[in-house]
Formats: sequence, C-alpha cells, structure tokens
Amino acid sequence: MMEQFIAGLPKCELHVHIEGTLEPELKLTLAERNEVPLPYTSIEEVRAAYDFDSLPSFLTRYYEGVRVLLKEADFHELAMGYLRRAAAQNVRYAEIFFDPQAHTSRGVPFDIVVRGLRRALLDAERTLGVRAQLIMCFLRDLPAEYAMATLLESLPYREWIIGVGLDSDERGNPPVKFAEVFARARQEGYLLTAHCDVDQENSVEHIRQCLDVIGVDRIDHGVNALEDPGLVEEIRRRGLGLTVCPVSNGFVTGDRKTDAIRRMLDERLRVTVNSDDPAYFFAYMTENLEVVHAALDLTADELVRLERNAFEVAWLPRLLKDARLDELD
Ligand code: HPA
Ligand code: ZN
Repeated sequence: MMEQFIAGLPKCELHVHIEGTLEPELKLTLAERNEVPLPYTSIEEVRAAYDFDSLPSFLTRYYEGVRVLLKEADFHELAMGYLRRAAAQNVRYAEIFFDPQAHTSRGVPFDIVVRGLRRALLDAERTLGVRAQLIMCFLRDLPAEYAMATLLESLPYREWIIGVGLDSDERGNPPVKFAEVFARARQEGYLLTAHCDVDQENSVEHIRQCLDVIGVDRIDHGVNALEDPGLVEEIRRRGLGLTVCPVSNGFVTGDRKTDAIRRMLDERLRVTVNSDDPAYFFAYMTENLEVVHAALDLTADELVRLERNAFEVAWLPRLLKDARLDELD
C-alpha cells in the first residue's frame, strides 16, 4: 500500500553524483570498448568489491570506476542510464553532480565531459519528460588552485551549469580551503553547495564555515548540524535545504541516520532524501524513501513533505517549481 504510494510519488533528486550512477554492467561494457583494464571480469566480481566501511574505501572504488569514461558518448550513455532509471521511479526533476577533475586529471577534456552530460539532459527532457540540471563539484582533497583552474575552465559553459559543490575526502579538507574559489563562483553567478559528510571530524565546524565563510545556498548531508542548536536555528532561519542520503550513510558510517531525518522533520528543517551514488549503494530514490519509511513509519503527509521540501529548495525558477509542487497537492 505505502510501497505503491512511494513508487508513484512525484520525486525530486538533489544529491546524486553522475559518476556514482555507473552500474557494474556499463562499467564492464565501457572497460571493454575503451580497452581500460579492470581487475574484474564479471558483474558479480564488480559487486563483490563494493564492501565499503568508510568514505575513503568507497572513493577508491568510485575513482577506479571513472577510468572507463573516456569519450563524449560514454558520458552521454552514463547520464541517460541514470535519467532512464530516475524517470522510471517518477523523478520529475534532478540536480546532478559531476566531478570534472576526476576526468581532466586523467587527460579527458572538460569539454568532452560537459558536452556528453549536457546532451543527455536535453535528450532526457525530450524523450523521458524528466528535467535536470548540472552542479560541478570540486574535489576537496586536491589543491584549491586546481579547483580555481577548473572554475575558470567552466566559464564558457556557464549557461549549462547551475551551481558548484564540494565533494571527495573531507578529512583535513575544510570548506575554508576553497573560500576564494567559492567567492569567485558566486561572482560568476553560480549557486553554491558543499558536502558536509556524516560523522566527519570537525563536522560542526565545517557546517559553520559553510554558513559564515562560504555562504552556501544548500548543504549536502549536514546531519551533524543537529549537534549544535545554533546551527539548527541558522539553517532554519535561512531556509537552507539539507540533502540527506540514508542508504549512502549506512554504507560509509554503518548507520543510515534515519533518526536524524525524523529530527529534521520535527525541527521543520527542509530535509530531503536522495541517493548519492546509487549504482554503488544499490538504491535509487524509491529505495531510499522505502528505507526511511521502514525506519520511521512515515505518514503519507510526511513522505509528501520530503518531496515538497526538495522542490522548494531546488534551483529552479518559481514557475517551474510551482508546476511540480502542484503535482503533490
Ligand atoms: N561523498 C563525498 N564525495 C563523493 C561522494 C560522497 O558520497 N560521492 C562521490 N564523491
Ligand atoms: Zn555526495
């Protein structure tokens, strides 16, 4: 009963890494097509290697996987695969992260990455009826100078990218490391978000930096904000969205942190539920919502609330937001 309700609910995904949607099958296909050696020969072997117990152990497999992506057609195929799955789950709108430095650092041109993804977004809107926009993430474990160079390289494609984010290994890489990069991104008209991953050391301090130094328009994860009443109050006052990813949390911390979602709902924060790296965590939007429902016994109103929150904080013009919010009435 509620399963059908969740399946049919119009959805909005705000936290998904396109490289994290690389399914084992496509990974093997592209490895063969592009002659990139992988230490796996079957889908079962690929899957068996997904035994993460931390963010770094996940990132190792994630960066191993991206090596098969070389051509514009590969990026197009990757994004079409995600958008097809999303559309099948009634995702009506998605904001999709991509990691240009995971590709430019291997000699794949920025232009190839962004053109392949952009073309998929246009095709998906036409053929699947799902709308999507791109958010470019900087890899925080690489130097700030490389992030700045990537930002400058993105400027000719400014119209194709709605905002910038910050991902990869948070440990020892606080938001302030990228203060100048984000300030310039803001000047160029990009909207700003940053990962504040779950249970990182100095998590509360990193979230504070996002608010006071970076001036983010959204927070990715941000679960540890609940430890500091001052942060909770400020996030509520600014109406910032929090993109929480329960199945991902389970893989990298051993705890899905669904209680945090309950508290955020009770605190009237704009909490949203998302998939993060669905091909690695075996859960897209519907499965993430099911996990939250199973843990919290959400009412239909609360499930709708999660999707309303997402459309409200989405980086869409008011008119387009309202059209999607109407579907939830
Ligand atoms: N966390 C941090 N960086 C990432 C992730 C994530 O879940 N996925 C891809 N890059
Ligand atoms: Zn993420």
